[in-house]
Amino acid sequence: MDIRFTLNDELAFATVPPTTPLARILRDHFSIGSLHQTCASGQCGQCLVLLEGAAVPSCIVPAFSVRGYAVETVEGLLSKPEFMDLEKGFLEAGLSPCPLCAGNKAILAESLIRHHPELQRQEILSALPRHWCPCSTVDTFTNAVLAAWNHRRRRARHAQTS
Ligand code: FES
Ligand code: FES
Repeated sequence: MDIRFTLNDELAFATVPPTTPLARILRDHFSIGSLHQTCASGQCGQCLVLLEGAAVPSCIVPAFSVRGYAVETVEGLLSKPEFMDLEKGFLEAGLSPCPLCAGNKAILAESLIRHHPELQRQEILSALPRHWCPCSTVDTFTNAVLAAWNHRRRRARHAQTS
């Protein structure tokens, strides 16, 4: 089937079987290098992308369900000024994920920030993948997201007043 969606704000097309996982499409057709497919079952959180702004494991998202939707990967986030909010928040909280996890943690944080105008610790905890990596604590990640969310709020206020 033909699918058409936006990938990092640009129109994207692919011809694939309808149940092809989005992770495979992004890697094979668009050379997206940030996705690491380890469990392939939606458990490890190593293949997160934003689908309409929500973090989803792209290994279990079938091609037919992304038609007409907006997909963002960390490659797309990196090109936006808002990415600095994540960088600052992670730095302040002392969160420095390994290269394997950095993109996924950024995608998860971005999704939380976009969806919660008043972000609470509990909402972050509820969004964590089932398997959390051993090299950073849940507390550190939560602090990092809250700090990034504060930077994003300041950015929004600044944009309104300038
Ligand atoms: S590879 Fe583990 S959630 Fe996708
Ligand atoms: S930060 Fe990558 S395995 Fe923990």
